[in-house]
Amino acid sequence: VSNDLTAMIAGNELAAKLYHHLLTNTDQGKEALEYLLKRGFTRENIQDFSIGFAPDSWDTLTQFLQRRNVPLNFMEQIGLLSKREFDGKLFDRFRNRVMFPIWNKDGKIIGFGGRVLGNEQPKYLNSSESKLFNKSQILYGLHLARPDIRKKNEAVLFEGYVDVISAWKAGVRNGVATLGTAITNEQAKLIRRNAETVIVCYDSDNAGLKATYRAIQILEENNCFVKVAKLPEGYDPDEFIQKNGSEKFRVEVIGGSMTTMAFKMSYLRKGRNLQNEAERMQYIEDVLTEITTLSKSIERDHYIRQLAEEFSLSLDALKQELFRLHKLKN
Ligand code: UTP
Ligand code: MN
Ligand code: MN
Ligand code: MN
Ligand code: MN
Repeated sequence: VSNDLTAMIAGNELAAKLYHHLLTNTDQGKEALEYLLKRGFTRENIQDFSIGFAPDSWDTLTQFLQRRNVPLNFMEQIGLLSKREFDGKLFDRFRNRVMFPIWNKDGKIIGFGGRVLGNEQPKYLNSSESKLFNKSQILYGLHLARPDIRKKNEAVLFEGYVDVISAWKAGVRNGVATLGTAITNEQAKLIRRNAETVIVCYDSDNAGLKATYRAIQILEENNCFVKVAKLPEGYDPDEFIQKNGSEKFRVEVIGGSMTTMAFKMSYLRKGRNLQNEAERMQYIEDVLTEITTLSKSIERDHYIRQLAEEFSLSLDALKQELFRLHKLKN
C-alpha cells in the first residue's frame, strides 16, 4: 500500500472517530442520535457500525484534521473536504449528515456515506471516487459479515448500508451491499470468493426489481447460485423489518427465497391480466423464452410442467414451442 493511501486511510479513521464522538457524546449530535433511534437503530448498531454525525458546520472537520497535521490536499482528493472556488479555502464537504463509514475487506475505512436528517437532496452523499474509494469494487459490510458468509456459504445482497444494518439487527449477519448502484463483475467475484449462494434482497420497487434482474445475470455469469428474497412489493428490507419484525424477515423474506426462475415468472406477470387470452399467450411465450436459458434439463422439465398445469396446455405443444424459440435464439 502506497504512502498516499495510508495517509488517506488515516484521515478517514480520524474523521470517523470525530463523527462518532459528536454523535454519541455531544449536544451537537443529539438530533441525529434521536433520528437514528427513532429509525430503529440500536446503540449497539451505532457502536458496531461506527456510525457518526457530521455537524452543520463549515470547518469542524477541517480544523480537527489541520490540528493533527493531516495532509489536507489528500482529504480533498477523497472528498472529505471541498475547495472554495474563489480563494481555494478548504471546508467540510459533509454537513448535517449521519455518517456511515465504509470499510474495505480488511476493515480499513476507505470512505463514507452521509445521509441527510430530513428530506433535503441529495439524500445520500458518498466519498468521492479516488484511488482509495472505488465504488464498483466495494461491498459494504463485507469485513463484518465475512465470518457468517463463510460459515453459511451464503451471502445476502442489499442495496444500501441501512438495509445491511437493519438486517444485522434482525439476526441476518451475512449481508453486504452494493452502494445503490447495479452490481459489477468485480463485486460478483468478491462475493463468489466467499460464498457459493447469493440471495438478492434489493428494494421491491421498480428500480430494485430491474436491478435484481441484472444482478441475477451478473452473479450467474460469475458462477454464483442465485436466489431472490421474498420481499412484498413496495418494501425495502429496512422498511419490512420495521413494520413486520425480525422473525418475519428471517423466516418469510430470507427463508422464503425463490429460485431465479420463480422470481422472473412473478416479474413477468406484473401488470398483465392473465385472464386475457392475448396477454396470457404473451406471458407463456416470455416464460418459455426464459426457460430456454436454463442449462439443466431437469429444470426446464420442471417449469414446462408447471406451465402446462397452470394453463392446461399439453406438454407436447410447450416442448415444440420451446424447441422453436431455442432455434430462433441460435
Ligand atoms: P435508496 O434510495 O433505496 O435509499 O438507496 P432509501 O431506502 O430510500 O433510504 P432511506 O431508507 O430513506 O435512508 C439505497 C441505498 O443506496 C445507497 C445508499 O447506501 C442507500 O442506503 N445510495 C443511494 C448511495 O450510495 N448513493 C445514492 O445517491 C443513493
Ligand atoms: Mn429511496
Ligand atoms: Mn431504492
Ligand atoms: Mn431503499
Ligand atoms: Mn430505506
